[in-house]
Amino acid sequence: MNIILIGFMGTGKSVIGKLLAAHLEFDFLDTDILIEERTRMRIPEMFAGPGESYFRSLEAEIAQELLNLDRRVVATGGGFALNPENMKAIRQSGVVIALSAPPAEILARIKDDGQRPLLQTPDPLARILELLEKRAPVYGQADFTIDTSGKTKENIVAEIESELIRRRVLDGRS
Ligand code: S3P
Repeated sequence: MNIILIGFMGTGKSVIGKLLAAHLEFDFLDTDILIEERTRMRIPEMFAGPGESYFRSLEAEIAQELLNLDRRVVATGGGFALNPENMKAIRQSGVVIALSAPPAEILARIKDDGQRPLLQTPDPLARILELLEKRAPVYGQADFTIDTSGKTKENIVAEIESELIRRRVLDGRS
């Protein structure tokens, strides 16, 4: 059983995923990092060069690989779950948790990092709102959603753990 984090850019999937994995003694896997390692390219380079569809095909490969893995906490890129085949695979491979945050907080968290090609526009907040509106129904297919705003990382991990225990995904002894 894996634990897969989905949700928009800047909702904390990588940071929380890493902490959650350490806490549960699961291995951690970050799909963006795995793609960068496999291609030896940074994501902005990949979008500018081979293109977004190449990046999405690598995400789709990883989604299928997850079916053969166990005890992983997986942080996915914000667009990973939009491919219905990917969503099907992650649901089959474990519990899917969406992380969320208000648009203004998303912008504040990621505005200066230059690593998100989709937000390199003159009005990133408008772009965030537009993408969020399109993607909300997909993120809503997660088993449950955790709002990350105004909480410490430790609180978020604890909240996820208690929800997993409540749902009997974890046994509560750890
Ligand atoms: C994307 C999100 C990014 C990365 C790529 C595309 C998206 O991941 O996969 O830039 O489509 O939302 P993060 O959610 O980790 O920023």
